This record gives sequence, C-alpha cells and structure tokens, in this order.
Amino acid sequence: MAEMNIYEGAIDKGLEGVVACSTSISSIQGATLTYRGYTIEDLAREASFEESIYLLWKGQLPTSKELTAFSSHLANDMALDPAFVALLKNMVSVFPKTAHPMDFLRTAVSVSSFFDRDSSDQTEVAFWRKASRMTAKMGTIVAAFHRLRMGLEVVAPVANKSLAWNFLNMLFGRPPSAQHERVFNTALVLHADHEINCSAFSARVTTSSLSDIYSAVVSAIGTLKGPLHGGANEQVMKMLEEIGSLENVQPFLDKALAGKQKIMGIGHRVYKNGDPRAKILREMSKELTQSIGRPELYEMSTKIDDTMQQKKGLMPNVDFYSATVYFSMDIPIDLYTPIFAVSRIAGWVAHIAEQNLNNRIYRPRGAYVGAASQDWKPLQSRV
Ligand code: COA
Repeated sequence: MAEMNIYEGAIDKGLEGVVACSTSISSIQGATLTYRGYTIEDLAREASFEESIYLLWKGQLPTSKELTAFSSHLANDMALDPAFVALLKNMVSVFPKTAHPMDFLRTAVSVSSFFDRDSSDQTEVAFWRKASRMTAKMGTIVAAFHRLRMGLEVVAPVANKSLAWNFLNMLFGRPPSAQHERVFNTALVLHADHEINCSAFSARVTTSSLSDIYSAVVSAIGTLKGPLHGGANEQVMKMLEEIGSLENVQPFLDKALAGKQKIMGIGHRVYKNGDPRAKILREMSKELTQSIGRPELYEMSTKIDDTMQQKKGLMPNVDFYSATVYFSMDIPIDLYTPIFAVSRIAGWVAHIAEQNLNNRIYRPRGAYVGAASQDWKPLQSRV
C-alpha cells in the first residue's frame, strides 16, 4: 500500500504528453507531419507508396535505381504460397460469417508466419526479408479474403505493377482507372506512419520483450482495429449512411452531442489545430464523390466538420474524409480499417526496427488502488 502513495497523482491517463521513446521516423510539430523530415504534403503529391516505405525504412529517399530495385523486390514478395491460399479459403468457410475482416487479418497474418522460412530467424538480415514479405503480402491477404468471402477466385499480383494498382486489381478483378490508382496510392502514403500512435506503440511494446516481427505486427493489427484508432474510418461511413441527408446532419449531431456520444473521425490527441492528412483527403473526397454523382456525401461531411469545429473546437482526423474516398471507389466499408493496416505496416516495421536498435523492455508501474491486505479465508468458510 505504501507504493500507492508514491504513484498517486503521477498518472498520465492515456499517457497524454508522455514521451515514451526517441524516434527519427516521423514527427508531428503543430499541424505539420513529416516522414524523415519530408512534409506529408510533398509526399502525398510526389511520392509513390513504395518510395515512402523506402524512406521510412532506410531514412532517406531512394535514387531512381534504388527505387526500381526496391519496388521490384516488394512486387515479387506480394504473391501468396498456394498452400496458404488454400488455408485462407478454409478459414473463410469455417469462421463465422460475422467475423470482422480485421479479426480475419490478425489471424491470417499470424498464420502466415508458418509459411515464412525465416520466421524464427532473429538476425537483422532475416528481419528485413520478413519485413518486405509481410508488407507486400498484407494487401494480397486483404484482397484474397474479400474475394474468397464473395465466392470469387483469388487474383494473383502482377509483378511489374505498383502495390496500389495491385491491391485494387486483386480486390475487384479488373485494373483500376488511373484516377483510382493515384488516389489509392496517396491514401497509402498518408496512412503509412504517424509518430508514436497507439498501434506503433503496441508494436514497440511487443518488440521490447525481444519478441519477433510477426508477433509485433499482430499486436499492432489488434490495436489498430479499435474505433478510437483505425476503426474510426468504417464508423464514419456508417454514420453518414445513418444520417442519410444534409438536413439530418444538424439533428443527428445535436442528439449525439447531447448524449455525450463521440463523433467518429473527429478530434485528435496530438493535433489541436487540424490534421494535415485530413486536409488532403478532404480535397480527394470532394473530387471523388462528385465523380460518382454523390456530392451530398461530401456536403454532409463538411457540415459535420464545420459544426464540430464551431460547437466543440474539434477538427477532423485522417479517418474522417478517407471514408468517403474509399466509398467512392466502391471499396466495401468493412475493408477500410484493413486497408489502413495495408499502409501502416510500413510504419510499424520502421518502429520495430528502431526499437530493436535501442531496446529496453517497456515495463511501467500501476498505482495500486485495490483492496488493502486481507486475511486468507479457507474455501469452506467463504459465504
Ligand atoms: N466527438 C465528440 N466529442 C469529442 C470527440 C469526438 N470525436 N473527441 C473528443 N471529444 C471530446 C471528449 O468528449 C472530451 O470532452 P470533455 O472534456 O467534455 O469530456 C474532450 O473532447 C477530450 O476528449 P478525449 O477523448 O479525452 O481526447 P483523447 O485525446 O483521449 O482522444 C481521440 C483522442 C482521437 C481518441 C478522440 O478525439 C476520439 O475518440 N475521436 C473519435 C474517434 C476517432 O476518430 N479516432 C481516430 C483517431 S486518428
């Protein structure tokens, strides 16, 4: 009980403001997000997802030759072992139809370690081979899952095409338009890393016990799933569908806020003056909702955005406008969070590698507020 007094008052609930480690991967300063010193605006406009992964992992932009070699390596790692595809097919047939795709992804990635000949090799060179395979295969697994649950054939990746092109091709079974490839690539770049976010921290905590990359990524997928983190994008689209029309926005918000409900895709622990990724996605949402003849989805979103700023001083985060971007591309709503994982694995890998380089096990304390010391009661004397 003495320890309780030592820690009481020193708890930062949710670790708000706590600096848990040093990192050189990405940084948030005010409303500026950078990956290795490059602003997210420059990266979203100029970089391919492959180039962003290279930057996050190696700390610098690739030369043209390096990028070609790196991209081709990733592209070659996209294909799944046929025995693994057969297993996925079985999983889809026996798992409950109500299972969320994030639960399927978490399980599939965990199982995929048994198909990786390096899975128990903890050397650095094996680490990077596993990192490339896991990153390249994440999109293939999500697309394969969707096709299998629809009773469709799995589409194999095409080695000379980008990860963005391949994901859409493997999902829909037809090549994406140039607009969709560009938009999807930008979405992948925007979601690739975000300083010490909840899932990256989770991956770092798992890594800190000297566990392996598969275990760390599985921890991160489980963390990303929650609606306070990556699960929010799916909830945003469900909310827009529930609201249904521009006139219903105000009554919906009035009721939700009166009931102390959280509006998904709004607010952020770190950004208090706006999330720069949301600004980029807002423009993409405008373009795409117009192109499918559903401008009201964008108008409803901006009304929620404006009202939340006026009433609560809260601004949209990355999950708010990405919902209507994905919806406009005809992506099933329950795949929005798995797609977040398809991108964020780039950052998780960078964080796991950084944690490995300068490791100390994460082991915080808890302020004990439970029962005081008690006298043992034999079973037969308990009532
Ligand atoms: N809708 C309504 N109110 C919100 C809100 C939201 N989306 N986000 C925060 N608030 C309010 C809280 O109710 C709280 O108000 P109070 O002080 O009157 O109780 C205050 O703002 C602080 O919120 P809190 O939950 O403590 O902030 P946090 O830093 O712990 O959480 C988020 C940050 C992102 C988890 C939070 O804003 C949230 O839940 N947003 C919705 C989920 C989401 O979009 N997640 C994706 C994050 S990228």
